[in-house]
Amino acid sequence: MIKAAMKTTVAKVRPESISFNPLVVSDATTLSHLNQAAELIRTNQVVAFPTETVYGLGGNALSDDAVKAIYAAKNRPADNPLIVHVASVEQLQRKLLPPDYSIPNCYKELLAKYWPGPLTILLPVLPGCPVSTLVTAGQPTFAVRVPSHPVARALIALSDTPIAAPSANASTRPSPTRASHVVHDLDGRIPLVIDGGSCGVGLESTVVDGLVEPPQLLRPGGVSLEQVQQYWPSVIVAKKTAGKTEAVRTPGMKYKHYSPTAKVWLTQDYDKAKQYVQDHTDLKVAVLSTQTFQEIEGAANYAMGTTPEAISHSLFALLRQMDDEGVDEVIVEAIDTSNGGLAVMNRLEKAAVGYL
Ligand code: TXA
Ligand code: MG
Repeated sequence: MIKAAMKTTVAKVRPESISFNPLVVSDATTLSHLNQAAELIRTNQVVAFPTETVYGLGGNALSDDAVKAIYAAKNRPADNPLIVHVASVEQLQRKLLPPDYSIPNCYKELLAKYWPGPLTILLPVLPGCPVSTLVTAGQPTFAVRVPSHPVARALIALSDTPIAAPSANASTRPSPTRASHVVHDLDGRIPLVIDGGSCGVGLESTVVDGLVEPPQLLRPGGVSLEQVQQYWPSVIVAKKTAGKTEAVRTPGMKYKHYSPTAKVWLTQDYDKAKQYVQDHTDLKVAVLSTQTFQEIEGAANYAMGTTPEAISHSLFALLRQMDDEGVDEVIVEAIDTSNGGLAVMNRLEKAAVGYL
């Protein structure tokens, strides 16, 4: 029997109408949509919402049913744990940690600087921890962050619930940075998408583990390696990839990721890119330039921006656009991993089949 598709509603909100301390939503439509979303969270259903990094697919982090619904909608492998989103350190302490436990000192300065914001930390799962074991996928730690996007913050506050949220894409696809990307992947699979416009950062949060010595950067993201190093000079970057059967600290790293249907190639060599376009006139080839490439004749040319911040912001949207435009192959101008480029190249290397 074919299960009848669920109707997916897209609800537009105005993030600029939301203010905090105390929470005030001046636009009535925005408030009504946020209340509707909060009700879905409270009743253990799922909702897609914007964060400053990418759109998330959220559900009550304390409910097995809600978390199962997240994994099912995305088709996500069950051994890839989720990030819990909280409104504040105060809510984290009150809802998820024992009263006598204090967040390890090593995190204090990083959190003071980057929360709310695109930084995720690991904390131990302690006896009595209410986070669903499906969120942690059996790990002895859980990942948590305080997002800075007003819609995300308001949703957590209105539902008064820690929200587990992976990126709101279908598993293996580029993460969504606009509501239309979520609809493309999850239409008919989730009840509601809150549309708060496009995401500022454009790629996911940085995941760090300060519970080990030396501390580790598990996933590069919106806070750069260089920024983390200012607080943790000894931080090491965890192994990039792993075989399908290998246990890794961040299980997400072993899966195919961020891939458009078009085949993606990387290179820093302009002549090789030009030659490839010339050799493949039978294909629709696009070139995504960053810092130095000029337009290449015979290809569809797009500029991604020159700084890691600008490239991060446009990367996933452009990869998705390649599919919309029926591009067969994409050549992306690679950038150096230093000076903030690590997160961009991490995503691109996963999206790509290789270097030219
Ligand atoms: O910016 C973000 O982090 C977005 C927005 C929605 O907040 N979320 C996101 O979630 O990117 P997701 O599920 O796509 O990626 C979560 C990453 C995965 O690489 C996962 O393996 C890792 O965090 N992770 C989660 N819990 C972990 C844990 N206990 N130990 C190690 N890695 C963990
Ligand atoms: Mg993801």
